[in-house]
Amino acid sequence: MASNRTFTMLKPDAIENGHMGKIIDMILNAGFEIKAMKLTQLTEEQAKEFYEVHAERPFYGELVEYMTSGPIVAAILEKDNAVADFRALIGATDPADAAEGTIRKYYAESKGRNAVHGSDSDENAEIESHFHFTAAEII
Ligand code: RTP
Ligand code: MG
Repeated sequence: MASNRTFTMLKPDAIENGHMGKIIDMILNAGFEIKAMKLTQLTEEQAKEFYEVHAERPFYGELVEYMTSGPIVAAILEKDNAVADFRALIGATDPADAAEGTIRKYYAESKGRNAVHGSDSDENAEIESHFHFTAAEII
């Protein structure tokens, strides 16, 4: 059964470029409810751990540097079919391939600096949510 929660981060380029409010507005307009949210900045250790699955990829060092380069907004979102619907809302990893009307189509700079993260499975949504939030911080 599909979970009704997913985890997102508005990445450093989105905050730096002043897109935080517009992206949150798109998320709310798409029917997601915010169940936890914080502005924070990842340490190198946190970014390495969060993206550990990509540790062997050639872009890993660049990814860690980018994700620690400035503040991010982390959030837990709720909606029926949250994981799949949120991936549809953010669009393809590379904005050049992202569908019209998606967050990455509007706001991503490039495949690497792509404005927003969305969990790719219910299991990862749970792991990533608890990586960033304690139980007391989640509504
Ligand atoms: P995310 O995990 O952030 O939601 O992104 P995703 O599933 O669409 O893409 P994924 O393959 O999980 O890659 C994680 C992040 O690594 C950066 N990346 N750079 N330069 C490159 O070729 C490249 N490929 C991936 C992006 O920031 C991507 O979102
Ligand atoms: Mg991913």
